[in-house]
Amino acid sequence: MPQSDHSNHSFPSIAIVGATGAVGREMLSVIEQRRFPCRELRLLASSRSAGTTIEYRGQPLTVGELTDDSFDGIDLALFSAGGSVSKQYAPIAVARGATVIDNSSAFRMNDDVPLIVPEINDDVLEDFDFPDKAGIIANPNCSTIIALMAVTPLYDAVGIERMVISTYQAVSGAGAAWMAELEQQARDFAIGQPLTSEVTGRQCLFNVFNHNSPIGEDGYNTEETKMVKETHKIWGDDTVAISATCVRVPVLRAHCESINLTFRKALYEDEAREILASAPGVRVVDDRAGNKFPEPIDASSIDEVLVGRIRADYSQPDGMGLNLFVAGDQLRKGAALNAVQIAEKLMERQAATV
Ligand code: A2P
Repeated sequence: MPQSDHSNHSFPSIAIVGATGAVGREMLSVIEQRRFPCRELRLLASSRSAGTTIEYRGQPLTVGELTDDSFDGIDLALFSAGGSVSKQYAPIAVARGATVIDNSSAFRMNDDVPLIVPEINDDVLEDFDFPDKAGIIANPNCSTIIALMAVTPLYDAVGIERMVISTYQAVSGAGAAWMAELEQQARDFAIGQPLTSEVTGRQCLFNVFNHNSPIGEDGYNTEETKMVKETHKIWGDDTVAISATCVRVPVLRAHCESINLTFRKALYEDEAREILASAPGVRVVDDRAGNKFPEPIDASSIDEVLVGRIRADYSQPDGMGLNLFVAGDQLRKGAALNAVQIAEKLMERQAATV
């Protein structure tokens, strides 16, 4: 199929807002790899990168500057340029008739905005009339998506009373500039130069530090708060007690999370392993003899979330608690892939109603 097929008018025209960023570029490669059909692909970013090109299916596509007129003729706009850009431009895109899939946190908690992980709650999209009625769909926070991919199959099986999560988050979640600076710090270290920290504000290399989101008066950073609120919204269940601690580690693009669960009914580790082995989008990596468990290196650039270290929590009554360790690509399932999967669900629903 050509890079954009103008002859097929049933295919959507797509805009990527933030196309030069870490997630935007990943969206482009996911669209290419999954052969997502499109009539036109419009790459948008700030005036800083307008006129630059990005390769797509072997051809250079020129990046345009995001303006109020960027969405004319666009059916589907994938946003990943930060919350303030989404707040300003997503309503404009919708007013021009586009459906927005937004990767920022700007609209996630709005009652009228579906918050979707396709493997978990794509049924919520049933009320969403694409392409006839434009609107906004939110992509959840990356750490939330990665945790829920592994935990939801267990939640569905026995119910969860309490979930305690500690993250080990890659720098990709803070954007392309953070990734570039971590790489630069590694290069500078290797040649004995002082490390630059103009973007990240600190030494990331060989360090672990609190997540770079604002800290509220209660001491929680907003990444932690998002994990609680978004999980409740995605599950449609705010009775689950959730506590999160989110930190960054010097890893480029895959998050790890240690997850401690308290169940509503007993679930033993063998049953949990079996449930997870057949869960969509999840791969069990749990080799005790070989000391091989989920690692960010192995989770990078793949679609599945890896889950392992599945073991009883002996501090809880028999069968009532488990520990898990997960690793998932922040740029892929945590952001770009999930957004494109939402778009695929919209297309499937559209095809089913024609
Ligand atoms: P640009 O490259 O022109 O700055 P990341 O999350 O990796 O930092 O990427 C952020 C993305 O959002 C980039 O594509 C960036 O474009 C884009 N962006 C940031 N601010 C704006 C803006 N005001 N208008 C349009 N795009 C923006």
